[in-house]
Amino acid sequence: MSLLHKLEWRYATKKFDPTKEVPEEQVTELLKAMNLSASSYGLQPYKFIVVKDKNLQEQLVDASYGQEKIANASHVIVIAAKTSVGEDDIRAYINQTAFLRKQQIEELEDQKSRIMSSVSSWSEEKKFSWAQEQCYIVLGTLLLAAADAKIDACPMGGFEPEKYNHMLGLKEHGLHATVIAAIGYRSIDDDYQHAIKSRRDLDDIVELRYS
Ligand SMILES: Cc1cc2nc3c(=O)[nH]c(=O)nc-3n(C[C@H](O)[C@H](O)[C@H](O)COP(=O)(O)O)c2cc1C
Repeated sequence: MSLLHKLEWRYATKKFDPTKEVPEEQVTELLKAMNLSASSYGLQPYKFIVVKDKNLQEQLVDASYGQEKIANASHVIVIAAKTSVGEDDIRAYINQTAFLRKQQIEELEDQKSRIMSSVSSWSEEKKFSWAQEQCYIVLGTLLLAAADAKIDACPMGGFEPEKYNHMLGLKEHGLHATVIAAIGYRSIDDDYQHAIKSRRDLDDIVELRYS
């Protein structure tokens, strides 16, 4: 099946079959795909919290404007942005890169200075919104990886981040729930799976400016 066919197949699943669980090896594959997402400067200013706990999922429904799919899903993946990004994060990234690429730290000095001068010129608000933007790129990767593996997913912004932060103890770890995805397998009576995709015409959304 081509990627386009897989993207036609996927949809924001409204109702999961609560009896079906995504095997842990496949969840790990999705997490590996998310970890391979592009991120600005490669800094990955986020963390993924995976919830598979029916009690907690039931409680999270209330913090998700009553969206029952949180409870019916096999797993809920919370993509949480770091609330502050600083020199330590940049140093850790450079050290990790040097280690993995078997380079001397000094060889990466220019790269480090470039990132440091850029990031340190940003306000705390800008850093936080930048970190949240990176979370949405991860969400896109997750949706692609899930479609590729024939795992259903619903991307979700309809939840109360402060309640998630509290219930998952994120704030004390310098994290903020930014966007979530419920994953699992579609229920046969989720009518949305039969709906024709509603998208703008390519001609309307694309402007080609070729020479
Ligand atoms: C950032 C984001 C947040 C979303 N939040 C919700 C949500 O809270 N609940 C929901 O049912 N769908 C949510 N959706 C799904 C969209 O409504 C859906 O992707 C869109 O209507 C296109 O339909 P399709 O994904 O089925 O093709 C969200 C999608 C995105 C990308």
